Amino acid sequence: MKTHFVRFLAVLLISALIVPALDAREPIYARKAMVVAEQDLATEVGVSVLRSGGNAVDAAVAVGLALAVTHPYAGNIGGGGFMLIRMADGRTTFIDFREKAPAAATHDMYLNANGVPTGDSVVGWRSAGVPGTVRGLALANKKYGREAWPELVKPAVALATNGFPVSKWQMDSWRRSSPLLSQFPESKRTFLKGGAYYDWQEIFKQPELARTLDRIAHLGAADFYDGETAHILAAEMAKNGGLITLADLQNYQAVERTPLEGDYQGYHIISSPPPSSGGLGLLQMLAMLNGTGYDKSGAGSALSYHYMAEAMRRYFADRSKYLGDPDFVNIPISALLAPAYVDSRRATIRPDRATPAEQIAPGLTAANEGTNTTHYSIVDQEGNAVAVTYTLNNGYGSGVTVPGAGFLLNDEMDDFAAKPGGPNMFGLVQGESNAIAPGKRPLSSMTPTIILKDGKPFLVLGAPGGPVIITSMLQVILNVIDFGMNAQDAIDFPRIHDQWKPDRLDTESTVSPDTVAQLRHMGYQTQTADPNEKARVEVILISAGWLQGAVDGRGGGGKAEGY
Ligand code: GLY
Repeated sequence: MKTHFVRFLAVLLISALIVPALDAREPIYARKAMVVAEQDLATEVGVSVLRSGGNAVDAAVAVGLALAVTHPYAGNIGGGGFMLIRMADGRTTFIDFREKAPAAATHDMYLNANGVPTGDSVVGWRSAGVPGTVRGLALANKKYGREAWPELVKPAVALATNGFPVSKWQMDSWRRSSPLLSQFPESKRTFLKGGAYYDWQEIFKQPELARTLDRIAHLGAADFYDGETAHILAAEMAKNGGLITLADLQNYQAVERTPLEGDYQGYHIISSPPPSSGGLGLLQMLAMLNGTGYDKSGAGSALSYHYMAEAMRRYFADRSKYLGDPDFVNIPISALLAPAYVDSRRATIRPDRATPAEQIAPGLTAANEGTNTTHYSIVDQEGNAVAVTYTLNNGYGSGVTVPGAGFLLNDEMDDFAAKPGGPNMFGLVQGESNAIAPGKRPLSSMTPTIILKDGKPFLVLGAPGGPVIITSMLQVILNVIDFGMNAQDAIDFPRIHDQWKPDRLDTESTVSPDTVAQLRHMGYQTQTADPNEKARVEVILISAGWLQGAVDGRGGGGKAEGY
């Protein structure tokens, strides 16, 4: 008896040691509304807007402004992005507040005398495009929200004024980014405490940013584009050799575009149109996979990854040639999504072999993208759904904080093809369609997406991560629709990434070694990719009367909260 009891205790102890490691994470469940964002205080701001009567668009505006304070890595007022909205009454819209090239920008502005790209598109004053975030959020609030604008800015003002405790991730992130931020005295002072560094749990206040946000709260977007903030930014640009002028700011407009839509396995996909490259990518890859039987061997099998990788390669080849700012280039969207064209691309996939990248070309006759964007998803109790991805491009953008205004500037000019036809610093090849021109928006991979089932929101998702956004979202969608996973399992599941060139298949370290070996046998050159550089997909899934919110564990934090 005693022996049995000892054995029982031993089993209990071993289970206690083992089970947590095997335990799957659960999504957060709620009945009415849900906010999922990459920073917990910003999520809480969104929930409190919803609870006090704001709709999902109001919450999205407040979360965007809060992230500009609490997640300076990517949250911003000095950058740009996309907001996809699907109102409960069926209206859909895509608000494009992507940055624009300043009027003084030129095709070869980042090439040296030998035609070689300089680093100017990535770091410093010259790398910034005209910011769009404040105009975009104001447009969303005015047309689709119902709360008064100042009420939505107030939480951000309070967070900047009173400060908030620095998280472990944030503390480490600033230390890691010290080589960038130290180059600019205002950034060093603001984010690195002049070089002394902020500690975990230390309160971080941003009085200059608080003043800027307070002006924006009272005067609206006009302050940022034509008022005191605009004048501060234009004067600092002129002083520091940047290109953005007061006229660039005055001329900046956020625009509404028609989302791209399509169907897959009875689900209706609403996604991002150009200048995002992602919506077209998702629709094309889903159509290419349809009918291949890619899912027959199960999630995580070599066969499923093989077909996904082949679809990715063919899409990225097209992306390299045809995509850019639709206000500047004609994009053959219908031709790229035409069933006969997709059939012809699918027909070139061999069931047992990788197709080498050099045997794939753009099929009819991409972008130098930072990986440090942020996404959040919101559904309110009326059924309005909003997906927002916005960015400074690289983490902390250009590294420049505007003195006297307290916000970081983007380095979005780096998303253009500095040298069309050549691979950029991330290996993506992109063409003349995405060359620099004054007033043009650089091609993006940001892909906020909403998927409907029976006419109602089913999946609201998006991610940061440059080109990895599109391939990660594809896999999350397939995990939910074809493999029946819940929101958390779908984003936690091991992923691959293939972008055609370089000829390489990235596999997360969680992909089983057997599977990787089989993929290598099929002809793929595989590389284990650092999961931190993978897209952090933030998802809301609505099923059987419940909202499931899930935060991607690959990132530095975040929170799903609902009620
Ligand atoms: N800057 C990242 C993207 O737009 O895709």
